[in-house]
Amino acid sequence: MAKKNYKEALTDQIFHTIAEAAAMLSVDCYVIGGFVRDLLLERGVPKDIDIVAVGSGISLAKKVASLSPGKPEVTVFKNFGTAMLKISDKEVEFVGARKESYNRDSRKPIVENGTLEDDQKRRDFTINALALSLNKNNYGDLLDPFQGVEDLGKKLIKTPLEPGVTYSDDPLRMLRAIRFSSQLGFKIETKSLKAIEENKSRINIISKERIVDELHKILLSEKPSVGFGLLLKTGLLDFILPELVALQGIEEIEGQKHKDNFWHTLEVVDNISEYTDDLWLRWAALLHDIGKAPTKRYDKKLGWTFHAHEFVGAKMVYKIFKRLRMPLNEKMKFVQKMVLMSSRPIVLAEDFVTDSAVRRLIFDAGEFVDDLMTLCEADITTKNPKKKKKYKNNFKLVRQKIEEVEARDHVRNFQPPVSGEEIMKTFNLPPSREIGLIKDAIKEAILEGEIPNEYEAAKAFMIKKAEEMGLTQ
Ligand code: CTP
Repeated sequence: MAKKNYKEALTDQIFHTIAEAAAMLSVDCYVIGGFVRDLLLERGVPKDIDIVAVGSGISLAKKVASLSPGKPEVTVFKNFGTAMLKISDKEVEFVGARKESYNRDSRKPIVENGTLEDDQKRRDFTINALALSLNKNNYGDLLDPFQGVEDLGKKLIKTPLEPGVTYSDDPLRMLRAIRFSSQLGFKIETKSLKAIEENKSRINIISKERIVDELHKILLSEKPSVGFGLLLKTGLLDFILPELVALQGIEEIEGQKHKDNFWHTLEVVDNISEYTDDLWLRWAALLHDIGKAPTKRYDKKLGWTFHAHEFVGAKMVYKIFKRLRMPLNEKMKFVQKMVLMSSRPIVLAEDFVTDSAVRRLIFDAGEFVDDLMTLCEADITTKNPKKKKKYKNNFKLVRQKIEEVEARDHVRNFQPPVSGEEIMKTFNLPPSREIGLIKDAIKEAILEGEIPNEYEAAKAFMIKKAEEMGLTQ
């Protein structure tokens, strides 16, 4: 059968420069991996290009740099035998063809000097082992010894070798399989899925950073529940986020059941993914009920309760981020805040909405009030269409009220209308507890709607309050 040729996809000057450099060094080279996969899947023009050289990848990278305009710097990763270049907006990574797989987390030596096919069979999946030739005699030819194109058509994640071998070469690939399944909507071959179950504990040798990278990609996929469902099914989730696994299951006592909070959570994550691509808001959705496992109780009168789960959950966010070596910065604080406040708008949507409750919500959520509303709307997973409609409508009302109240009262980024200094000056007081009390009373009066958020009204209220406190004699 004639080889398929994709030279029209390799017209970018970069490919010609690489081909020229390779010819000068008399080495064969190929575009391989994600670039070819995404090209065939028509997923848009990929930014990263992986090049495999049948010879030294590092020497090829240096030659390419010397032939490129501006002579870009070559970053060499000697331990991995790879080199990287940035040309215009593209990152190009070079590697020599290997007989054995490399594993970034182990100290195994890199074995080079393989043929193209040696290298292809040591890659993770057949769909990632596709190569396009950059050689003069067959420029653009597709080299697909493991039927990757067929698997693209079948939407199948399959390893070129026995899955057990491929996964023990680099256990991160177990997560990559699940990530690609979630990102591309592909199925993982049964045999492969079984191998993941068998090798799951080997994920422990992988660095947290690489694990989190994959988790982020799963969370950013169109339907993250696909990935997290597979993480649960294979048992990998026990090693990564056991707190989520603990949410799984339905208990029944005296005929009373609670919902399965694991599957509920995944539904919320899928829902929110329809409205936002914000990674951290998606994390907030994933962790919004995380405190429900440790706080679950059964009470004869109340039934199932999860008292203070938001508070416990917010604390767990810190522990999880720390354990996974995720940033303990404002992103983590944002997720904590969302988890802590995740039930607040629900109470409003169930009840009659008062202005003061809305003002307090805006005050407490501050700049993140819209994100909080998005989270709470995604949290509606009731299967009762009547209830669903009612909640959706109520949230619409809450959103409207938020806009009205904010336009009038400006409490979103609340600044006290009367400063502590002015209070001290007016009553000739030194810095003291009383100043704080008056400031607080003004803030409370504004939030309760007793006075508008304006200077004159706040000043009059300050004088009245000071009189009551006996500070004006
Ligand atoms: N690869 C591998 N095993 C790994 C990681 C990568 O075999 N654990 C190979 C695959 O052939 C992969 C290529 O290296 O296609 C490039 O890896 P990477 O850039 O991490 O992923 P991509 O497949 O390009 O996909 P994405 O950009 O979506 O991460």
